[in-house]
Amino acid sequence: MIQRAPLLVLRAGRSKRLDAVLAQALAGIPCEEVYLGKAHIPQLSERRVLFALSLGEYGLDMDICTLLIHLRRNVSAMEGSAAVMLIDGEGELYTKQLARMLAHAANAAGCTFPGKPLVEGTGSLSNLHVTAKRLGVTPEQAYPLLARALVERLLAFQPPHFARPHILLLHASAHATSNTLALGAAVCDHLRDACDMQEISLQNGEIHDCRGCSYKTCSHFAQTNECFYGGSIVKDVFPALMEANALFLLCPNYNDSVSANIMAFINRLTALLVNNSLYDKYLYAIVVSGYSGSDLVAQQVLGALCLNKTLMLPPRFCLAETANDPGSAMRVPGVQARINAFAHGIREQLLGSQAVAL
Ligand SMILES: Cc1cc2nc3c(=O)[nH]c(=O)nc-3n(C[C@H](O)[C@H](O)[C@H](O)COP(=O)(O)O)c2cc1C
Repeated sequence: MIQRAPLLVLRAGRSKRLDAVLAQALAGIPCEEVYLGKAHIPQLSERRVLFALSLGEYGLDMDICTLLIHLRRNVSAMEGSAAVMLIDGEGELYTKQLARMLAHAANAAGCTFPGKPLVEGTGSLSNLHVTAKRLGVTPEQAYPLLARALVERLLAFQPPHFARPHILLLHASAHATSNTLALGAAVCDHLRDACDMQEISLQNGEIHDCRGCSYKTCSHFAQTNECFYGGSIVKDVFPALMEANALFLLCPNYNDSVSANIMAFINRLTALLVNNSLYDKYLYAIVVSGYSGSDLVAQQVLGALCLNKTLMLPPRFCLAETANDPGSAMRVPGVQARINAFAHGIREQLLGSQAVAL
């Protein structure tokens, strides 16, 4: 049997609170602890990695920037690895922003993230109030419990494979003109022989955004996997998503954000998650920007659906292109090779033809 390397705990910054949380989270778990700034960045491939980062008031420091640059520069730095993040903030801001940036950079370097791979503590810990109340403890008590559960989930994590994966393709674009749809169709052409593809357009029918019902009202509708508004999200999209092994989202960049229908779909998932989880599903996306900002949209998608809504992030989950004129995305230099590589990655990850070395 191959000996598995111990958990790698990659630390940046110093805080007594994070030291105490980590002591409880890691008690009895064999691990190798490396402090950025004191040592070179170690080999990050083929490891399970806990990023344990302490943020000062202003959110960034040299060690964290060095880590991000390392991951962005070395596109295979985290090949075969899985990671989670524990981020402790001095103030109320920047913990989530760093989590998105780090997940995006590590994922592009080959790292898999299990669903909900972030435990954060803002300066006041008020971000933990709701969870703490549910657990019947204080936020200070909840913090190490959540960190411990995060580490245990990482150690138990095995990305699943499927004999014939079911992929749900969701979009809200017009077929004739959309660059995003043209790229999506090209990727699907490489998958159809091995996967069952289901396509749903969120343009059909009226998609209402989440109404923000009370938890009681939301739970009432959720008992039957419904929602206040009903409609195609409840009737078509929820059942299709529950059956799918992977969600494949097509996202044109609209004002450095996903478009309104895609956002409404994500917000409406709140009702589905009252009684279900999406931990066993992979997330893929195509992002097309006319000018710039695909990184922002990709981070929004992974932030909402992986960090918040529990989907898994497979290595290089997103194909990002820049193209503005209708039909021009398929003529961008090198696009065919990137489509091939993206589709090849999806096949390997879902079918397990080259299992992640964990
Ligand atoms: C309402 C709207 C807002 C847009 N905002 C941006 C933007 O902020 N940044 C950008 O790079 N492109 C922006 N674009 C351009 C689209 O991202 C671009 O046309 C891309 O090809 C969209 O793909 P599609 O053809 O699938 O819609 C915007 C387009 C529209 C219609």
